[in-house]
Amino acid sequence: MRLLVTGGAGYVGSVVAAQLIEAGHEVTVLDDLSTGHADAVPSGARFVEAPITDAGGALDGVEAVLHFAAKSLVGESVQKPELYWANNLGGTLALLEAMRERDVRKIVFSSTAATYGEPERSPIQESDPTRPTNPYGASKLAVDTALSAYAVLRGLGAVSLRYFNVAGAYGHYRERHAVETHLIPNVLKVATGERESVSVFGTDYPTADGTCVRDYVHVSDLARAHLLALDACQEGEHKVYNLGNGTGFSVQEVISVCREVTGHEIPAVVGPRRAGDPAVLVASSEKIQRELGWKAERTSLGDIVSDAWDALSGK
Ligand code: UFG
Repeated sequence: MRLLVTGGAGYVGSVVAAQLIEAGHEVTVLDDLSTGHADAVPSGARFVEAPITDAGGALDGVEAVLHFAAKSLVGESVQKPELYWANNLGGTLALLEAMRERDVRKIVFSSTAATYGEPERSPIQESDPTRPTNPYGASKLAVDTALSAYAVLRGLGAVSLRYFNVAGAYGHYRERHAVETHLIPNVLKVATGERESVSVFGTDYPTADGTCVRDYVHVSDLARAHLLALDACQEGEHKVYNLGNGTGFSVQEVISVCREVTGHEIPAVVGPRRAGDPAVLVASSEKIQRELGWKAERTSLGDIVSDAWDALSGK
């Protein structure tokens, strides 16, 4: 198929673009490089450097869109809510309008676990309440809501994938944020010597070791789900799927695994809680397994961390 991948110079978008090309699709990447990297755009993709509000020309001849271009930091979204509403909701509405003008009727959307907010139960299912606790989650939920309406009223075929904690690397494609807030890359930066220690944000949560528990899903498994989602886009329907491993690991467990993988002592300093962090976020991915046949393959935290470490240390 001829496909447009918005945000294809970012972490998840570049891995999906690479897998789509490997599967024989014709890919155009649209990215404004505000947080992405031009060298992350897979060779074999056509690259258009433009903001999401200017996707028009890049859509000509395109049969479906995979939409990643967005702001994605929870903390930043609380500091700069306008940026999140404008980019994530405003940008997506502009994209949907450009798609409608050109009769492009299929979209796979990069949604998030942050749409659920503080969960009532674990693991989280897609039917659980969505009560986001920050503008990032709220802006992504607003897009999910718009997609449902466009599906019913405009015949769009949409699939939203709600990611939990994406980690690992796919070959040389890895997480590279100018300001890194995510746990695994921050821990590994201690092992490379870029940081002296890692901060543990809170040890007084109601979990086994007092630190937060998250569901880490390998970026390669996550990316593969997008190819299944593309096949599952059906005009007039909006489907929503969680994407996680179904197993939670605490911050302390992540640091221990990083120590084993890197052979570095990785000093950890206990600090206060980070505002807005739920104690436990674990996905039920049963729905996507059942309906689309997706199954995570690189589920061990050791494998996920090793792949991230190999890509970071240039192995
Ligand atoms: N943490 C630390 N030290 C750090 C970084 C993180 O202790 O230096 C802790 C956090 O407090 C949290 C856990 O490690 O308990 C994971 O934090 P991340 O920042 O790696 O990831 P989040 O769980 O906060 O965020 C993820 C996705 C978001 C998504 C969110 C859903 O990255 O896009 O889950 O709540 F919105």
